[in-house]
Amino acid sequence: MCGIVGAVAQRDVAEILLEGLRRLEYRGYDSAGLAVIQGKTLARIRRVGKVKNLTDAINENPVIGGTGIAHTRWATHGEPSERNAHPHLSNENIAVVHNGIIENYKELKNELSKEGYAFTSETDTEVLTHLIHKLQNETKDLLSAVQKATKIVTGAYGTAVIDSNNSDQMIVARSGSPLVIGLGIGEHFVASDQLALLPVTSRFIYLEEGDVARLTRKTVEIFDKNGQPVDRKINLVDAKSDSADKGEYRHYMMKEIFEQPTCVRQTLEGRINTQGVESGIFGNGFEAITGQIKHVTIVACGTSYHAGMVAKYWFEQYAGVSCSVEIASEFRYRKFYVHEGSLFVSISQSGETADTLAALRLAKEQGYLSSLTICNVMGSSLVRESDFNFMTRAGTEIGVASTKAFTTQLVSLLLLVLTLGRHKGLTSDHEKEMVAALMQLPGKIEQALMANDVIETLAEEFADKNHALFLGRGDQYPIAMEGALKLKEISYIHAEAYAAGELKHGPIALIDADMPVIVVAPNNELLEKLHSNVEEVRARGSILYVFADKAAKFESDDTQKVVDVVATEAITAPIVYTVPLQLLSYHVAVIKGTDVDQPRNLAKSVTVE
Ligand code: AGP
Repeated sequence: MCGIVGAVAQRDVAEILLEGLRRLEYRGYDSAGLAVIQGKTLARIRRVGKVKNLTDAINENPVIGGTGIAHTRWATHGEPSERNAHPHLSNENIAVVHNGIIENYKELKNELSKEGYAFTSETDTEVLTHLIHKLQNETKDLLSAVQKATKIVTGAYGTAVIDSNNSDQMIVARSGSPLVIGLGIGEHFVASDQLALLPVTSRFIYLEEGDVARLTRKTVEIFDKNGQPVDRKINLVDAKSDSADKGEYRHYMMKEIFEQPTCVRQTLEGRINTQGVESGIFGNGFEAITGQIKHVTIVACGTSYHAGMVAKYWFEQYAGVSCSVEIASEFRYRKFYVHEGSLFVSISQSGETADTLAALRLAKEQGYLSSLTICNVMGSSLVRESDFNFMTRAGTEIGVASTKAFTTQLVSLLLLVLTLGRHKGLTSDHEKEMVAALMQLPGKIEQALMANDVIETLAEEFADKNHALFLGRGDQYPIAMEGALKLKEISYIHAEAYAAGELKHGPIALIDADMPVIVVAPNNELLEKLHSNVEEVRARGSILYVFADKAAKFESDDTQKVVDVVATEAITAPIVYTVPLQLLSYHVAVIKGTDVDQPRNLAKSVTVE
């Protein structure tokens, strides 16, 4: 949420900062701004809206200088406006960009106001800026001022600070919101996501909780939460694996939908063989505890939560392990019961979702057997703080609506189900059948993608609708939920999902000719039940859109449109059926002309509560 980029260099950095912001724009896009030390003063430019608006402004009024900070914002305190956009200034010499939330900003604002500081914005960031200015006056050193400020403010944040009186220095601090330092030769950088810095470096240091660092052109000094100098590992990142390029596609989302066969192959590579799942894939020591695992608690948000919901069906059906799934923002604020031998599993594309991270931290204090995260971002907070991690290898996902991250999460969860199932009576023949289905999965997704043109035409019928209902049964119910979430997120059509058997207990009252009903209907043991549910809807005048394989025997007519989905094994059907629903949302959004990759009010990485 929000993106930070900063640089201390000999060369002019405005273009580096702007490119970094473009790459981070998926994190927030209400407004953007930049401040560069130009001679002895700060040149600051801010604009409401996309980074493009800021770029245009800078093209008209170029800023020249080697030290600067920049920010793309997802508003928390104060509306998206130029005066609330970052960087914020104090006394015209201190400039600050900040991610996250300062919880005690009101008290601090009162105190600072009494001391004569005037506020020009509604943000918590401006409070931090004046606080740092005040502490710098007292300590005469920007590093000490930031260190002191971090002891005074509460909340989760990442920040970068510059002072026009010392142009060869930038101070950065991390507390709950990720920051990475990029190492150059005679120049150093900072960002909230390494993706921003890949054009300028491939060497990164991930700051730890409570770290404060001083960057100059030639040096990087890092201090831990106790103020002690520390060395942090340098990580080499393969820039090729992190393409921020849309290629031939009009939107990142479409590119990412079509990347799914490749991503699934990557997720499986080296992790299965024809006999079953390879051992050791969840990390050293994981298999030593699998025999003790009696229950799995999954905690996640949004799309990742839906992956967890599918996995619950799988754990209980195939692995014989009980499983509970919960939304992180609920889990973290309630008293929960820890079953004996419980494995805590978090699922997250970004690895930085504030609620999921807080849930993990809480779980670690509550007697879980162990913690595992299924995540797409190496070095992220969830990966670093969990006992075990399993990388989904989907590659960077830029579209705010998650697609390839979801399907690779499901693949990863299936591998976990098989690994645990071995200890609970899953036969080796059954395991063999399941890995065979997994091996075929990339090909099945390729076939599912072939329905793209049909779905594009179908999407026209949704563009003037205000509501839609998604139905599924069994492990397709969470897929219906995910389909509804996708449609809401990018087309702004109100959509809800129900377990098809639940319809008659209330929601059937909504059915009329203006309520399209989308049904996910693979040929499985619940098919007959689903057929009955579909007839109940048809009898009430709704138009049905049924995604089904031929053997499910649905036929198109005036009130029912059937989209053929490739026949697939029951175990992988939830993954395959996700794909046409992604395509449907995408095409409806394109027809409606919404901002597909950066839908309103959303951000890719939700690092605030
Ligand atoms: C997905 O399309 C959403 N943008 C959102 O629900 C997302 O899945 C959720 O915020 C969780 O994010 P995470 O996977 O990075 O933890």
